[in-house]
Amino acid sequence: MTDDQWFREAVVYQIYPRSFQDTDGDGIGDVPGIIDRLDYLHTLGIDVLWLSPIYRSPQDDNGYDISDYEDVDPTFGSLADVDRLIEQAHAPGIRIVMDLVVNHTSDEHPWFVESRSSRDNPKRDWYWWRPARHGHEAGTPGAEPTNWQASFSGPAWELDETTGEYYLHLFSRKQPDLNWENPQVREAVYAMMRWWLDRGVDGFRMDVINMISKHVGPDGSLQDGRPIAGTVLGDGTPFYICGPRIHEFLQEMHREVFDGRSQKYLTVGEMPMVTVEEALLFTDPARHEVDMVFQFEHVDLDHGEHKWDRKPLDLRDLKASFGRWQEDLADIGWNSLYWNNHDQPRAVSRFGSDAPEHRVASAKLLGSVLHLHRGTPYVYQGEELGMTNVPFAGPQDFQDIESVNYYRTAIEAGADPEWVLHNLRLGSRDNARSPMQWDASANAGFTTGTPWARVNPNYPEINAEAAVADDASVFHHYRRLIELRRSEPAVAHGHFTMLAPEHRTLYAFMRTFEGTELLVLANFSADELAVTGDDVPRLDRWSGADLLLGNLADDPSSVVEPLRPWEARILRRTT
Ligand code: GLC
Repeated sequence: MTDDQWFREAVVYQIYPRSFQDTDGDGIGDVPGIIDRLDYLHTLGIDVLWLSPIYRSPQDDNGYDISDYEDVDPTFGSLADVDRLIEQAHAPGIRIVMDLVVNHTSDEHPWFVESRSSRDNPKRDWYWWRPARHGHEAGTPGAEPTNWQASFSGPAWELDETTGEYYLHLFSRKQPDLNWENPQVREAVYAMMRWWLDRGVDGFRMDVINMISKHVGPDGSLQDGRPIAGTVLGDGTPFYICGPRIHEFLQEMHREVFDGRSQKYLTVGEMPMVTVEEALLFTDPARHEVDMVFQFEHVDLDHGEHKWDRKPLDLRDLKASFGRWQEDLADIGWNSLYWNNHDQPRAVSRFGSDAPEHRVASAKLLGSVLHLHRGTPYVYQGEELGMTNVPFAGPQDFQDIESVNYYRTAIEAGADPEWVLHNLRLGSRDNARSPMQWDASANAGFTTGTPWARVNPNYPEINAEAAVADDASVFHHYRRLIELRRSEPAVAHGHFTMLAPEHRTLYAFMRTFEGTELLVLANFSADELAVTGDDVPRLDRWSGADLLLGNLADDPSSVVEPLRPWEARILRRTT
């Protein structure tokens, strides 16, 4: 491994600053709060911090709508605070990665304010402006230039009365899409990225970066997508996911921003709907695009027709998906590994069990399984405590724009409110955004004010102070997993082999590296599970193996005895 591949041995911790730690009593987390918790993060052992956006923003999508890329929103602190954070994180060797949101800006960004001011403004072409559909009057139903649905419900086009044209927004109407076809846009983005690198940050997590290239016809036209059942809208994704110039744009970005610098920065592309074949191109080091992609296949497996149509997860599908990504990126390219982030419900409630008797074991099991795959693991704040989904009482409890818009449009379309609420409880991003649970004091130690989002009522039991004090906690299990990555080369570098792909509750795989074999056995159920020679070939060879890390209080008498409910064992033998 060369130095510029350091990320292969690293663990990333994601902070959602709004919900991490408040220090000024306004009920919203801030950068000084992150600085205050660096010791905690250092104890956990992580290498990289990725911060969700802290830039100036009207907060329509909690900071993913940016109005000034080169300043910090006063809610979160100041540039001086960020400088302090970089310096204090770097001291023990923790790198800082910023969120880069450049598929769109806020509609309050000066670029867009100028762009919308007149049809002949020099920045008009920095965004996607189109007249009403041919033969339709602007502002009438169906007059949008294409039928695309926005990710946050409703049409992806908004009419701007000033000039009588529509602008494209793949997310909220306050997030207009930048036009990457325009070289001035690209140059402005690259200049901003260089400005952050010069300030000392160590890389970027690139928000929905595979949406920046749109399919444009020779005459500048965009096309309608396949109709979406039950709506008048269509699916535009084939026209903007991994579009025709995406690789060119990322290579250009690499040249303009990273080439010629002595440091090796981290670049992670968040890429909805990316295929493994595309990911191979994006992450082939020889192509100079990004180090890894953040893909969604495994977190979409419990969706039916769409995100709000939830179905139970079949473990065989999960293994098939992970297995294929492991295999296809084995020789070239690299995986990122995650269960959680600020857009996903809590993993222990979704893939494990948040029932009191199983929560700790299943949270640890999920950690063991994920961290032992090949790739760079991401820990989302609170995952290391086994934080759970929030018990939302009713629709009024949801704040996220995606959830609020979904509720409104589903009810308007005649859906049963109980069913909509059920889907929200399972799938809402608000589940991940409740405040970090630090201790058993008021508001879980997150704020002395009124928290912007309700603290999960289970905080007196589930909190960092209690977890750090308890050697058998989820926290210490994660700490051990991170340590294992450093002490055992097979974890970062071993070859991966999936076992028992058709088993409904056993997740089993092997890692092999220079005479070391690791076997991971995980029971994804509340029933005892006997592992047999059909599941793990030549199981007898493992009877004398070392138990590197288990997840239950008492070790099994033999490493191959039946797995207890939600038990996960990591075994090691030398060949
Ligand atoms: C990404 C972010 C998500 C945001 C969206 C639009 O998916 O992770 O939180 O809403 O992009 O920026």
